[in-house]
Amino acid sequence: MAEIARIVILTGAGISAESGIDTFRSAGGLWEQHKVEDVATPEGFARDPDLVLSFYDMRREALSKVEPNAAHVAIARLEREFAGELLLVTQNVDDLHERGGSDRVLHMHGELKSALCGACGMRSRWEGRMIERPPCPICQAPSLRPDVVWFGEMPYQMERIYTALGRCDLFVSIGTSGAVYPAAGFVQEARQSGAHTLEVNLEPSEGTHLFHEARHGPAGRLVPDWTEELLS
Ligand code: NAD
Ligand code: APR
Repeated sequence: MAEIARIVILTGAGISAESGIDTFRSAGGLWEQHKVEDVATPEGFARDPDLVLSFYDMRREALSKVEPNAAHVAIARLEREFAGELLLVTQNVDDLHERGGSDRVLHMHGELKSALCGACGMRSRWEGRMIERPPCPICQAPSLRPDVVWFGEMPYQMERIYTALGRCDLFVSIGTSGAVYPAAGFVQEARQSGAHTLEVNLEPSEGTHLFHEARHGPAGRLVPDWTEELLS
């Protein structure tokens, strides 16, 4: 595929499923075990901060028990070996892309291992717990929250993402249900720029009909196959 010069990859919870992290919307997924309004909205946090802080402390601690899988590793290899431009955008708040070897990951929904201060707005790498209300390293206020984007909040770096979507030749969506905007709209944005669009997902997503091409099956097998094709 010599004509491909610019790629945008969007990943979602499905790419980390084979590493053992629950997705959100599958049977037994995170949103069946917890109410979205309670743990993933600013209103839920205001109502019961202990519940929200312990939910994300638990998810952050769970990262030490999982490893990146073949799909994360294949994308990292693509980042190293693809001669053109590659933007990797993830909706995931885990660190498995980085641990799989990717150096440049745009976390549009934030990161579990990052803290945001509700008092001064500081954002900083954070590995510890928040339930004990540690002071902000900058302003000392006991107001840290997980640096994750909740429903009703603005995802990160949208301008940069839309610029890349407007210039790409290939858009690939991996392991995302296509249920949450703005990420669910990226495929149409890329199509309007004339890009080829590919869905890689365990099953057809909500927006599967919007893609030129769809491959259905586990990311751990399909993503390495796809990167191999692209690089050969
Ligand atoms: P949304 O789709 O409205 O967008 C999320 C956030 O992104 C919003 O704060 C918005 O300001 C921001 N945003 C949207 N477009 C943007 C752009 N172009 N640039 C920058 N920022 C942009 O999110 P929502 O309304 O919270 O949820 C979407 C849908 O998902 C709703 O229909 C909701 O009911 C549903 N939902 C489902 C679940 C579930 O899984 N059960 C959970 C929550 C929400
Ligand atoms: N390989 C490929 N795809 C898989 C696999 C797998 N092994 N396992 C599951 N999937 C697919 C599912 O079929 C599903 O379509 O991954 C998708 C995961 O979808 P969601 O659970 O909805 O996750 P995601 O799309 O990332 O959610 C988007 O919702 O609540 C928010 O902020 C949260 O970033 C998240 C956003």
